[in-house]
Amino acid sequence: MTTNLTQNQLSKARPIGVLDSGVGGLSVLKHIHALLPQEHLIYFADSKHAPYGNKTPKQIEQRVFAVAKFLLAHGAKALVIACNTATAAAAESLREKYAFLDIPIIGMEPAVKPAAEVTKNGIIGVLATSGTLKSAQFAALLESYGRNVQVVTQACIGLVEQIELGELNSPKTLHLIMRYTKPLLDEHADTIVLGCTHYPFVKSAIQQAVGPDIHLIHTGIALARQLQKKLVECDLSTFENKKANVIIWTNSIEPNSELVIKSLWGSNSVTSEAEIRHV
Ligand code: DGL
Repeated sequence: MTTNLTQNQLSKARPIGVLDSGVGGLSVLKHIHALLPQEHLIYFADSKHAPYGNKTPKQIEQRVFAVAKFLLAHGAKALVIACNTATAAAAESLREKYAFLDIPIIGMEPAVKPAAEVTKNGIIGVLATSGTLKSAQFAALLESYGRNVQVVTQACIGLVEQIELGELNSPKTLHLIMRYTKPLLDEHADTIVLGCTHYPFVKSAIQQAVGPDIHLIHTGIALARQLQKKLVECDLSTFENKKANVIIWTNSIEPNSELVIKSLWGSNSVTSEAEIRHV
């Protein structure tokens, strides 16, 4: 009995594994850390293979499987795919692969549903990777929630790479943002979905490009709440009442990758010190 209890407690004290093609998922990790400050977190930035957006679903699936294996080997008690592109390509097959573990595997999708609820003129824009926009999951999302609104989509080729380099305000980044938001403005979208987890890091530049009246939406907070609910349902919430560890793994080969991670992670007051490790 005592042993079982200890095993159970140990299991709950294990970290939540979070993955993305690179640093974008840190925008989601922040919300998870803010909502669940007692949960240990282990994040994997697959920056060496970013962007996922122009890879085939099969290639993305291979990367997601490899990273998930790494996180599980480091004791993850739940997995979060903090990437819209990877969710579309591999969430279903990852759940099938690890069904025997019976752990929560949570993915994310562009916030078309909330955008359709808040738009006033019925026109919403979606900025995402071409992988996400071309996916069957996105088509299904539009079918379910985009029927009564006009949806204008725009793939943002090259924007993820800029954010990976930490160039949140460089002339090239701002130029890409102007270029990709223009078609949405031309169609008079009043609500824009940031359908890639990298984009919240350039939210203020996007807001500046589109003007203050346009509503920008992303799903980091919603995902954190969904994760919280799942942990409770699966009886996996930690019993510990102390400050959690946040470990961020990266396989980036960029010389300033650590600085980029530090500045993205540290740019919000809710975040505590994270340990950055290279693999
Ligand atoms: N952050 C990822 C997403 O949410 C994609 C970035 C990439 O193309 O690698 O879609």
